[in-house]
Amino acid sequence: MDFTLNESQIGIQKLAREFAENELAKEILVRDETRVFPLDLYGKMAELGLMGLPYSTEYGGQGADYLSYILALEEISKVDASMGIAYSVCTSLYCASFDNADAPDEMKKKYLTPVASGKALGSFALTEPTAGSDASGCRTVAVKDGDSYVINGSKCFITNGPVSDYFVVFTLTDPELGSKGMAAFIIEKGTPGFTVGERHNTMGIRSAAVSELFFTDCRVPEEQMIAAPGQGFKLAMKNLDGGRIGVAAQALGIAEGAFEIAKNYLKEREQFHKPLYKQEYLAFKMAELDVEIEQAKYLLYKAAMDKASHKPYTLSAGKAKLVCTNIAMKMTTEAVQMLGGNGYMKEYHVERMMRDAKITQIYEGTNEIQKLIISGQLFR
Ligand code: CAA
Repeated sequence: MDFTLNESQIGIQKLAREFAENELAKEILVRDETRVFPLDLYGKMAELGLMGLPYSTEYGGQGADYLSYILALEEISKVDASMGIAYSVCTSLYCASFDNADAPDEMKKKYLTPVASGKALGSFALTEPTAGSDASGCRTVAVKDGDSYVINGSKCFITNGPVSDYFVVFTLTDPELGSKGMAAFIIEKGTPGFTVGERHNTMGIRSAAVSELFFTDCRVPEEQMIAAPGQGFKLAMKNLDGGRIGVAAQALGIAEGAFEIAKNYLKEREQFHKPLYKQEYLAFKMAELDVEIEQAKYLLYKAAMDKASHKPYTLSAGKAKLVCTNIAMKMTTEAVQMLGGNGYMKEYHVERMMRDAKITQIYEGTNEIQKLIISGQLFR
């Protein structure tokens, strides 16, 4: 497999890196404290042409290849994993719904274009208090009434919830059938009967806006149904296959960000009359981590290339998510340890990165679920 990046990919990678270093880095510690999602910076990313990278220009996207988007997400997440997940949820989960569902042109124009162009944000609403790893345990129902559906229920842990304009919402149209009775709708912010709950107070990715959603007799026209009854679960699974490549890129970015901080620290910090990197156990530790990060990167790029070339990618996405998120947790934990007392201090960033890394092993399918998917494919 050829992992050589072309000129356009290198250009997008550079653009994202410079934006992250020059803009996202500025107030990162403040945002971690205040938990404010920087809508202005999201808008700047859109102005730079970083939004909707893998989507057609006809629908507000940039018409770039999928790996370019993954490279941009990796760069953003090296500095700001909260922005990374907001970007990934909009691109990999919300925008992907339209192609995955083979949505009609009108629907794409109305609901894909604003998010792909970065003028609006989108959310993916699957998880419920009773439906986490077991996504089929969903209890939100949609009952047909004339030419619309009336939705009742709630969702939790919804990334971008408080800042999104559009939501892909998964509901049961026939609760007896479980996942086979699932449909999905595009629901607009402000629809009567739809309210966004309080923001969750999270351990990491603290400036990402994550909340509950509530639906009380929320009437949605049938034209907003993106997956027909019986097709909703499959749409959710397809979206999540791509979403997991996004989380893998976010996690790899976190690992690389922490690696750079640790490397610079080991060069500058002197103990026992020599720089820390001259302590062989630290140099060897860094060598091992460097190899593990590179291994994870190849799995990530392979998954992105599988998706880009329309090959099956459920398995490669699961592997990439498992390995990238584990190295993110390992690298950030090691970085805190290598920086010692300083590593425990906010201004050295690695403690935030360690908190940010933890969720990558949990959301969009825990790593135990990834092992279920990988072993399921092995023994199919
Ligand atoms: N693509 C297409 N179809 C798929 C699929 C895929 N990747 N995976 C499963 N399906 C289909 C199956 O073929 C099957 O269809 P048939 O009945 O026609 O054969 C159907 O879906 C049911 O499949 P399973 O029996 O395998 O389903 P399951 O109930 O056993 O669940 C699971 C499988 C993999 C465990 C799934 O429930 C899962 O992925 N769980 C994790 C949920 C998750 O990732 N949630 C994250 C929510 S998003 C989030 O984190 C918040 C955020 O904002 C970031």
